[in-house]
Amino acid sequence: MNKIISFVKRKIFRINRDRWNHQYNKGLWDGLKAMDELARFSVIVGYVKFLKPTQNGHGPHILEIGCGEGLLQQRLQSQNYDRFVGTDISDLAIQKAAADAGDGKCTYLVADMDTYKPDGQFDMVIFNEVIYYSRHPLKTLQRLATYLKPDGLLIVTINDHKHSTELWEAIKDGFSLLDEATTITSKGKCVCKVLRG
Ligand SMILES: C[S@@+](CC[C@H](N)C(=O)[O-])C[C@H]1O[C@@H](n2cnc3c(N)ncnc32)[C@H](O)[C@@H]1O
Repeated sequence: MNKIISFVKRKIFRINRDRWNHQYNKGLWDGLKAMDELARFSVIVGYVKFLKPTQNGHGPHILEIGCGEGLLQQRLQSQNYDRFVGTDISDLAIQKAAADAGDGKCTYLVADMDTYKPDGQFDMVIFNEVIYYSRHPLKTLQRLATYLKPDGLLIVTINDHKHSTELWEAIKDGFSLLDEATTITSKGKCVCKVLRG
C-alpha cells in the first residue's frame, strides 16, 4: 500500500518531496559521495576558509540550501564554522545528514527553498548543485540573500549542461561577482561563483 501511495504522489501528483525521497531511498544520489564529485566541494571549502575564516575563536554562520545528506558540512569540518544550517526538500536526506552531523553546531531542516524563511543571518548562503530545482532561481537567490549579514556572500555552483549558460544569465543581473572557479573532473565541468549579496 505504501508503495502505491508513494507512486501516486511521485508520478501523478509529482510531489517534489516524494520524488526526491524515492531517489535517495533507491541510492540514486550515492554518486555525490564519490571522488569525481570532490573537486566542487573542495572549491567551496576553500572559499569558505579563505573568505570567512575562523578567527579569534569565531567562525562563520553558514546556510546551505539543498544540502542533501550533508556532504558539504562534513567536508568543511567543524572547526571552520560556528553555525551550520542545512536544508533540503527530502526528509530522508535530512535524516541522514542530521544523524551524521554530531557536533552540536549543525541544524538540519526539511524545507522547500522557494518558500523557506531562515532563522537568523548568515555569513554565507550556499547553493551547491541545487538552484536548477527552484521554480524561480533569481527570485529565490535574491530572497535568501536578504538573510545574509552586511558583508555576507552567496556561493552558487552549476554543473555544465545545456541550460547552464541561460541559468547564469538569469542570475547575473541580480548580483555582482566576487570570484569564480571552474572544476573539471572525469565526470564533468562545474562552475562555482561567489556573489555579493
Ligand atoms: C543534485 S542534489 C545536490 C545535493 C548537495 N547539494 C550536493 O551537492 O551533494 C540536489 C538536492 O536538491 C534538493 N532539492 C530539490 N528541490 C529542492 C527544493 N525545492 N528545495 C530544497 N531542496 C531541494 C534535493 O533533495 C537534492 O538533495
